[in-house]
Amino acid sequence: MTGNVKFDFSNMCASHVGTCAIADERIALAAQRVGEVHAAMCRKKDEMAWRKLPYNQDEVLVKIEAAAKEIREKFENFVVLGIGGSALGSKALFSACCHPFYNELPAEKRGGPRFYVLDNVDPDLLTGLLDTIDPVKTAFHVITKSGNTVETMTQFMLVSRILTDRLGDKFKENLYITTDKVSGILKKIVDANGWDNFIVPDGVGGRFSVLCPVGLLSAAVLGLDVRALLAGAADMDKVCCEPELEKNPAYLYALLYTEAMKMGANISVVMPYANALAPTAEWYCQLWAESLGKRTDWAGNVVNAGQTPVRALGVTDQHSQIQLYNEGPFDKIITFIEVENFKNTLSIPSAPFDVGESAYLAGQTFNKLIASEMAATVRAVSDHGKMNNTIRLSELNEYTFGKLLFFFEMATAAAGEFLNINAFDQPGVEAGKIATFALMGRAGYEDEAKRLSKTAAARENFTFEV
Ligand code: PA5
Repeated sequence: MTGNVKFDFSNMCASHVGTCAIADERIALAAQRVGEVHAAMCRKKDEMAWRKLPYNQDEVLVKIEAAAKEIREKFENFVVLGIGGSALGSKALFSACCHPFYNELPAEKRGGPRFYVLDNVDPDLLTGLLDTIDPVKTAFHVITKSGNTVETMTQFMLVSRILTDRLGDKFKENLYITTDKVSGILKKIVDANGWDNFIVPDGVGGRFSVLCPVGLLSAAVLGLDVRALLAGAADMDKVCCEPELEKNPAYLYALLYTEAMKMGANISVVMPYANALAPTAEWYCQLWAESLGKRTDWAGNVVNAGQTPVRALGVTDQHSQIQLYNEGPFDKIITFIEVENFKNTLSIPSAPFDVGESAYLAGQTFNKLIASEMAATVRAVSDHGKMNNTIRLSELNEYTFGKLLFFFEMATAAAGEFLNINAFDQPGVEAGKIATFALMGRAGYEDEAKRLSKTAAARENFTFEV
């Protein structure tokens, strides 16, 4: 499997789009920090264990492939139970690399089970899925690195109860588990029952975990080329380890984005012009938001760093958001993602009736139409002086997708270094998890529960019922 990824950052520069973009002098000044950023990226390489995933998983791949073979043979459905980084990578992979209507295809065309990711605890969603699938004919992949996440644990409790009621002691045959190698409630349950599990390696945080069993089991169950995915990541890694800014797209992206943040560009829009990449924009949003949105820097100074990521989809959002992007405030950067060669070429036929002034479209292709619409949008936002850049995939396959994912991970880590913040923790997410424990009555969280009930009482003065 082959394919390349090209980066075009020229429309980030004032020389291309005008004075609200980044001046060359500013880039030159920021570039003086690249040596320091590179040194930190090298020094912390071992801590960033996700950087080793393209290289160190030969053994685990054998286990993943065996489990995937079993699941493909035995089950009609495969359901991921997880949330955040434990879910978004699987969603992105599924959409990027599988048929757009995969679940609706007949079994022989799919070649594997139907695929679902259940990353919410909405009772209507859960009930709806259970109405749709037969749990006995379903493999559930329970993923939680911490092993404590309420959403995933409750989903796990629900399906375990349903399966046990139907299958008795054999219920475990429908469950595949991925969690930390030592800690967490889920690990205790696994050990107490003598079950096997996949591991999220140390130093691989949720949002950086798509290339470990968290995402790879989904990929293998879907019949994707897992090795090509990792090869793409490895090839991108080589480029993103280059010390020189001009040769390293991740450093350049990180530098330009962090400089733009200082200039007030508080929003990062990711706008793929390929429907299959819509969930990848969702994955990016978590990666960028949770990694860079930090209250303090390494020195403990309050910095309230971060940039709000927004997902958009070409061409769909040309008819909803582009008006704002063109004429609204200078507070955002747009990353366009283009796929040069779609899997299909589709002609626009002549219609069996007079289409009047639309006649010029007949005989052209939808491929040319989507490419033209993207080129037109890039031109329009640039003409309005708005910063933007383009990532161009020659085609979308496991290899180029591995490159794309790894690029964004490296760019995020490098941006963390430019901002001098810890890109790998998530105290803001933990705060919400603790509040949920308290509200749901977990022992040890009584004080937090009291605090929350006081604030709830105070809010009553400001609420309305109509
Ligand atoms: O990136 C992260 O660390 C988070 O988004 C987690 O993935 C998310 O909170 C789920 O955590 P866990 O995998 O521990 O259940």
